[in-house]
Amino acid sequence: MSVELKRAAAAAAVDHVEPGMRLGIGTGSTADEFTRLLGDRVAGGLDIIGVPTSEKTAELARGLGIPLSTLDETPELDLTVDGADELDRDLQLIKGGGGALLREKIVAATSARMIVIADDSKLVDTLGRFPLPIEVVPFGLAATRNAIAAMAGALGLAGEIELRGGDAPFLTDGGHYILDASFGRIPQAKALADGLSDIPGVVEHGLFIGLASKALIAGADGINVVGA
Ligand code: 5RP
Repeated sequence: MSVELKRAAAAAAVDHVEPGMRLGIGTGSTADEFTRLLGDRVAGGLDIIGVPTSEKTAELARGLGIPLSTLDETPELDLTVDGADELDRDLQLIKGGGGALLREKIVAATSARMIVIADDSKLVDTLGRFPLPIEVVPFGLAATRNAIAAMAGALGLAGEIELRGGDAPFLTDGGHYILDASFGRIPQAKALADGLSDIPGVVEHGLFIGLASKALIAGADGINVVGA
């Protein structure tokens, strides 16, 4: 994805930001473009308060002078703008490539609206080309992985389930591990999401269903809007 397309999607999202808004600020290289443009607007006098979805985003936003809050101080948000690893036309997403899926989902769930920004290479007919990130607690890792494989198998899904970082596991902001599940096409995303949520060692998964209200998808011909 070119930086130009990321910036174009981010610029389209900044136009949805209104004075006084309580904003969830996403994580990843596309969301970073949004944060930078938001920083310009704030420097120009726009009055908003942001809740970042990761320590990385918090650091970037702080450096740009964006006023920040937490969900404890500001538990209801007007809008969250975030990237995605993959999305379909029903606004079902795969997120977590950057490892921030848990905070991203909590922030999105507390927002009245979520706008997804992406380039058109991320729009798919059926989710699953991108390996699905699953955040798990380190305790009982092998058992949790087996439970995920068994549940997915019952849905007709199979594939490698790899620990991100291997021998030096990637740690999320919450101190958890991430398993990347290469199931291939996931036609039954809701059933998989529900099945994953039922497994005790799973903290959260990267399937975002029913959270995004709109996607702004940048392509060579401009911005394609999915949703309302
Ligand atoms: C982070 C995410 C990101 O939104 C996703 O990985 C997209 O990142 P990028 O904009 O860099 O492609 O879910 O957890």
